[in-house]
Amino acid sequence: MILDGKAVSEKRLELLKEMIEESGLYPRLATVIVGEDPASQMYVRMKHRACERVGIGSIRIDLPADASTERVLEVIVKLNNDPDINGILVQMPLPPGVDTGRVINAVAPNKDVDGFHPCNIGRLFSGDPLFAPCTPQGIMTILEEYRIPIAGKHAVVIGRSIDVGRPMAALLLNADATVTICHSKTGDLKEEARRADILVSAVGKAKFVGPDMVKEGAAVIDVGINHDEDGKLCGDVDFEAVKDVAGAITPVPGGVGPMTIATLMENTFKAARLETC
Ligand code: GUN
Repeated sequence: MILDGKAVSEKRLELLKEMIEESGLYPRLATVIVGEDPASQMYVRMKHRACERVGIGSIRIDLPADASTERVLEVIVKLNNDPDINGILVQMPLPPGVDTGRVINAVAPNKDVDGFHPCNIGRLFSGDPLFAPCTPQGIMTILEEYRIPIAGKHAVVIGRSIDVGRPMAALLLNADATVTICHSKTGDLKEEARRADILVSAVGKAKFVGPDMVKEGAAVIDVGINHDEDGKLCGDVDFEAVKDVAGAITPVPGGVGPMTIATLMENTFKAARLETC
């Protein structure tokens, strides 16, 4: 079974649009982008387009690549204090001259729709999440939509990044999976991966996961965005070789990617509702 993230995201965005209409609220998202990185520019444009589609207002603040940390913090404090802004998203990565940790810490946790603030990461790991990072939360939505059982299952996450691997493990744990996190220093990664009922790969290496790493019937979730030797977009998983072993698998593109933006929209609506509580 192919897990069609594009279709799930379309469905969720339509549902969200209706929910926003019915709520009478007008949620607003502010994005902050520092520098001219073409991929970041494209992602931010896609986020604003999604906002427009579902009835979320959005503003975009562009800062030059040589902006100081202090300048970025100044912008965030202003957005924190702006009652018309519900969600704040600082596009990553930031240029090397900007202190990413200080920037993430500056975003008000109740406007942190990316779920990167230590307060939100802590809440997620304590089993009482407010905002979870969009990519792993989007993966949970795919698993939910396709009714893939999680409780009591063995989940293996490859990658321990703060925006995907770690929060993914926490979300799966909160859903009662038994979770293993693998990384570059893991002793026998193949063996660990082969134990997974749910295998999530977020390593950023083309064709890293082959059929010898996948248990028959496992759900395989591919977070990678890589290019193969011909320059073609591909994930971490050798899709053609793994699809016959896996019970369910996300393609790249059209799998996890579209869910990230749909989840950002859901988080922004959640932020808007928080303020009316
Ligand atoms: N850069 C790549 N993915 C993301 C994301 O999910 N959020 C932000 N803010 N920046 C990113």
